[in-house]
Amino acid sequence: MTGYRICLLPGDGIGPEVIGQAARVLLALEMDLTFEQGEIGFGAYQKLGSPLPEETLSKIRAADATLFGAVTTPPNIPGYFSPIIRLRQSLDLYANLRPCQSLPHPASRSGINLVVVRENTEDLYSGIERVEDGGNRAISEMVITRKASEKIIRKAFELAIASSYKKVTVVHKANVLRETCGLFRRVALEIAPHYPDILMEEMLVDTCAMELVRDPGQFEVIVTTNLFGDILSDEASMLVGGLGVAYSGNIGSESAVFEPVHGSAPKLAGLHKANPIATILSAVFMLEYLGEHRPAARLRQAVMETIRLGQVTEDLGGLLSTEQAAESIIQCL
Ligand code: NAI
Ligand code: MG
Repeated sequence: MTGYRICLLPGDGIGPEVIGQAARVLLALEMDLTFEQGEIGFGAYQKLGSPLPEETLSKIRAADATLFGAVTTPPNIPGYFSPIIRLRQSLDLYANLRPCQSLPHPASRSGINLVVVRENTEDLYSGIERVEDGGNRAISEMVITRKASEKIIRKAFELAIASSYKKVTVVHKANVLRETCGLFRRVALEIAPHYPDILMEEMLVDTCAMELVRDPGQFEVIVTTNLFGDILSDEASMLVGGLGVAYSGNIGSESAVFEPVHGSAPKLAGLHKANPIATILSAVFMLEYLGEHRPAARLRQAVMETIRLGQVTEDLGGLLSTEQAAESIIQCL
């Protein structure tokens, strides 16, 4: 087996706690992994003057994959920027993948195995905003390009093939947003015939939000634009146990950054109560990305076993601390 360089970005709040435990669990797999740590977030800003120092970007570029914890967004500081949005744009991490699978836990609905594939670089998050009429009219531009739409839609179909899914649902609002969503939809209709083994269906975003609650088992791969994907993936995560277990990957053609969906949970920091599973499942997702399917499956199974046994933190109804929850996963390995 060849070795991998893994960049760890602990960040703020509970970030260092969950990353520390994920690293410990990864070491227990006895693979050839080398860890390198990078600074990110409000702590990095206070120490080094930037929430995303250039050195951190270099470390991510040099690594085979990166595991990121969470950052705290401080109250209004002029010139401060969101390091995670900047990181996605700087490294062109154009695909945000958020899988949702049923867990053996009462908080999770059964029969769910879907992944939200969210465009990660444009749409209403392009940052082109202005005010007019003395501050009484605010405008934000929704930017959709053929290039980014093609990349994300191809990614969704490739992922469907690689993961043995049979259907891709293209989610948009082209009945109202005729130009922007219209372009996204047209690109999808052009690309779909190149993947004859995968069924493509379309759904309006409001219908999709409703159907996710009514019958989530109907979905396999959902591909959509940035804002819709942000909202639908948070909604989907709540169907299978919530933020303590929701994981994701930001994928580009050169780099990939894996992260729990949750934030830095400042109220939990230092209390040893944070659920490490969202970060540990992000590490499983990272191993799958690296092609290490056997250790990934072993680790995923150990996580499922601890959930089934109730050896979990308070948010999932257990009694364990962050460290004990990670320890029981290691025992299950
Ligand atoms: P949050 O995700 O940090 O917390 C939301 C709720 O979930 C809280 O009740 C928290 O205690 C709970 N929670 C979160 N992670 C948990 C875990 N691992 N185990 C158990 N319970 C957990 O979101 P919130 O409170 O809106 O934001 C807190 C800070 O995090 C803010 O500064 C926000 O800007 C930042 N944030 C950062 C993100 C990132 O780094 N990617 C994403 C979302 C928020
Ligand atoms: Mg979000």
